[in-house]
Amino acid sequence: MAHYVINGGKRLEGVVTISGAKNAALAIIPATILAGESCLLENLPSIDDVRTLECILTRMGATVAFTPDGSMRVDPRGIRDYNVTFDMVRSLRASYYLLGALLGRYGYAKIALPGGCMIGQRPIDQHIKGMRALGATVTVENGMVTARADKLVGAEIYLDVVTVGATINIMLAAVGATGQTIINNAAKEPHVVDVANFLNMMGASVKGAGTDVIRVMGGRTLHGCSYAIIPDQIEAGTYMVLAAATGGDVVINNVIPTHLEAISAKLMEAGVKVIEGDDGREFFMRVTAEQIRPRPVNIKTLPYPGFPTDLQQPMMALLSVADGNSYIVENIFEERYNHVPELRRMGANIEINGRMATIDGVPKLSAAPLYASDLRAGAALIVAALMAEGESQVHNIGFIDRGYEYLEQKLRAIGADIRRVE
Ligand code: EPZ
Repeated sequence: MAHYVINGGKRLEGVVTISGAKNAALAIIPATILAGESCLLENLPSIDDVRTLECILTRMGATVAFTPDGSMRVDPRGIRDYNVTFDMVRSLRASYYLLGALLGRYGYAKIALPGGCMIGQRPIDQHIKGMRALGATVTVENGMVTARADKLVGAEIYLDVVTVGATINIMLAAVGATGQTIINNAAKEPHVVDVANFLNMMGASVKGAGTDVIRVMGGRTLHGCSYAIIPDQIEAGTYMVLAAATGGDVVINNVIPTHLEAISAKLMEAGVKVIEGDDGREFFMRVTAEQIRPRPVNIKTLPYPGFPTDLQQPMMALLSVADGNSYIVENIFEERYNHVPELRRMGANIEINGRMATIDGVPKLSAAPLYASDLRAGAALIVAALMAEGESQVHNIGFIDRGYEYLEQKLRAIGADIRRVE
């Protein structure tokens, strides 16, 4: 497995441009199945998870082609196989969106239970609850979820937990249901809104995305469209933390500032200068570290617009050198501290007690060989390695390849000493 060799201790300075949002792309690509024509998806990130979905759709019979600028054209009309086996989805959490899309379009789907980052149980009971409410028969056996419905009928659904995946998956199936579906206690993440906007571009009627009540008027025939994915707020937040962690001064282009309010607020609390602006064409954030060590801050991860769980891990790397105690409560996933043992080996002083992490800031981290356990843990280790003077290695970077486009190229362009060793 490839690894990164990183010589840390250097300030990051310069301009980085954010790619399309992974978690929007991984829902919108399956959503193309709902159309009766081909769709062109622009601003897709060039990441492994997108390529995995391309393979899955092609194996199902869809025609998928990339244009020279990296856009993806999907024509779902050739789909004949509604079965998605585990070997196709083992690395991909977002495979469950195929369930909602295939059920909404064909009334049948058989999907292997999803793989993806090991950050907790990650059940799909709310997805199944929603499909059953729409009239589908859903069974789970031998690691496969099978959903079938002669006719999907709109229903009112109350989600027991705020879940991005179930909110989006039910939206996809509801588009194929006759009548109105109401999703109560819906997730409000930017990528939920992006999926709703895409569905509406295809001729669907999805209202209220971005609030906790989403209404879908289903049963319409959807046509093809061209659609550009929103910028990735988690990638942007990761580069904001990297700028702060290296005492740097970085302009982050192609962002939507409102999507970054939680991370901007926490970085400013930590004493980092965050300025948002626009150059007449697109918005940017400029992040400048004002002092050597950040001030300690307290963080509770919450559904959007709260502090995003996906930035908890990179932020912890930064706070491991704060001048005081920081406290993090991970409210979304029950196993999202697998990066902590790696940070401890660099000298971080972190105590975990259930969902609470206490970070007693130390003056510096020391370089070390590091092992990523999941995508955002990998991001946290990149932050730590770029902070620590000397040579670190970050192993298991296949996780990182899944979610960060051109990471080493973007980091080198702002002064990082990082190279990939196959
Ligand atoms: C999506 O995961 C993202 N993944 C995650 O990003 C992100 O951390 C998460 O949303 C929260 O924002 C993709 O979009 C592919 P959830 P998802 O359903 O949909 C519980 C990354 O690094 N739950 O919002 O799996 C669940 O256990 C990844 O890019 C149920 O109980 O997250 C969790 O505690 C990591 N039953 C909470 O809800 C269900 O049926 C939130 O999960 C579904 C979820």
